[in-house]
Amino acid sequence: MASLIIANWKMNPKTAKEAKKIFFGIASGFRKIKKAQAVICPPPAFLSLFIGKAKKVKLGAQNCHWEEKGAFTGEMSLAQIKDIGCRYVLAGHSERRKLFGETDEMINKKVLAALQIGLIPVLCMGETAEEKEEEMTFRVLKEQLEKGLNGVAKKAADKVILAYEPVWAIGTGKVCGASQAEEVNIFLKKALTEKYGRKIADSISILYGGSVKSDNVLSFVKDAKMSGVLVGGASLDPKEFIKIVQAADF
Ligand code: 13P
Repeated sequence: MASLIIANWKMNPKTAKEAKKIFFGIASGFRKIKKAQAVICPPPAFLSLFIGKAKKVKLGAQNCHWEEKGAFTGEMSLAQIKDIGCRYVLAGHSERRKLFGETDEMINKKVLAALQIGLIPVLCMGETAEEKEEEMTFRVLKEQLEKGLNGVAKKAADKVILAYEPVWAIGTGKVCGASQAEEVNIFLKKALTEKYGRKIADSISILYGGSVKSDNVLSFVKDAKMSGVLVGGASLDPKEFIKIVQAADF
């Protein structure tokens, strides 16, 4: 499977001008990429600037509401996300969980609603520093996985993407070692196999996220055998982002 590299710009950059510079920088660098796939998740205010603007780069939303429509001020529905041309949507990013109080139940509703409408949900999971300290990583992941995928039928499961993003590694420069990432990869694969069977489990991409840069990406996509990476800060620098994609282009 070709590596999948997802860029999460979070609430950056400040201006449309800057956003265009980054996006088109990435799009032009992509000409030399052979197999790796990329998805860019700009902030919602800039999403529509990039629809249909780069053939090889797909678009995703960073968040969504699970209801079809209605009185939910400030929210963006999955129908709207799909209609403007996105194929992917992040669900359960740790910043959403921590700063905006999203629960596993809310995240599960987003995953189910995304699948229902034909979008690809990227279910983000990961332990905090305290949970890691207390050796709770696998317990946390199991719970987030089970609750996040609750009610996802076998026939829809291969449309889901998982992203392991240890909270302590996000934006800190502290990266998860390849052996821990590989252990998590194996653990999640096993849990998916128990739930959906081997064939479907093997077709579900599992990404790593947290301080990914061009000089450490290989430890995830090669050593830990992850299907790709979810990149925050480094995705705002087109040259660095393309270097990441290039390293994973095999
Ligand atoms: P950083 O790459 O900035 O650590 O962010 C990771 C992330 O949260 C991607 O969703």
